Amino acid sequence: MIEKKEMIYEGKAKKVYKTDDPDYLIVSYKDDATAFNGEKKGTIEGKGAINNSMSNIIFQMLEEHGIPTHYIEQISETDTLVRAVNILPLEVIIRNVAAGSFSKRYGVEEGTPLAKTVLEFSYKDDELGDPLINDDHILALKLATFEDLDTVRGYAFMVNDALKEFFLEKGLKLIDFKIEFGKCIAGDEDDEPGDIILADEISPDTCRLWDAVTNEKMDKDRFRRDLGNLEQTYKEVMERIRK
Ligand code: TMP
Ligand code: ASP
Repeated sequence: MIEKKEMIYEGKAKKVYKTDDPDYLIVSYKDDATAFNGEKKGTIEGKGAINNSMSNIIFQMLEEHGIPTHYIEQISETDTLVRAVNILPLEVIIRNVAAGSFSKRYGVEEGTPLAKTVLEFSYKDDELGDPLINDDHILALKLATFEDLDTVRGYAFMVNDALKEFFLEKGLKLIDFKIEFGKCIAGDEDDEPGDIILADEISPDTCRLWDAVTNEKMDKDRFRRDLGNLEQTYKEVMERIRK
């Protein structure tokens, strides 16, 4: 039985623990929700368990589509064993439809279709407020290499294709989402140390999901924007995913 050892990181929605084996970590999902770089705080009862299960179902689906991920095994309602990685300090955002900060920044109404799928990077730095960053900035700051960016971009579009189809079958439109990648510390049968794999989570905290018929918001925007029905919405998304 793999056990949690020392906590090495506590983020806004998750804690990360060491295990006996340096190549594996345990991620523990919390019910805590924050928005606007932690300025707004709350809890969504049951969110930790839902995001844990949902992320694991999605990561296994993505593995079947040829995207390597950190997922190993769910060990409790809220905890999952994952491969240890060094996270690239980049938030990789894919947008299929205008919403959120894109709509605000460019003055486009939310829900406006985009003529091209957009990939954006943000620099993962809470003190700076995760600023938008471009390829040249990333290379200049040595946050990742040219090859890393190439790999990340390729995987991100593959994730988008697989996720869009997956959610649409559940009656949900994938408006946009954020993913993170890491370089694995140990290799396995498919990859070598230093190879890039998908890490972090994919859940209603990290995706915008709109009901395919009514366009109702079925994600963390309900918390960010005080739209109510938080617990019910997360549960409803999970029930749809399980079907
Ligand atoms: P944005 O429109 O606020 O830039 O968000 C784009 C997507 O990224 C949206 O699906 C929500 C997700 N996201 C996160 O997962 N974490 C964050 O800290 C932020 C700002 C957005
Ligand atoms: N998780 C982020 C925070 O607390 C923001 C968000 O998801 O909107 O800052």
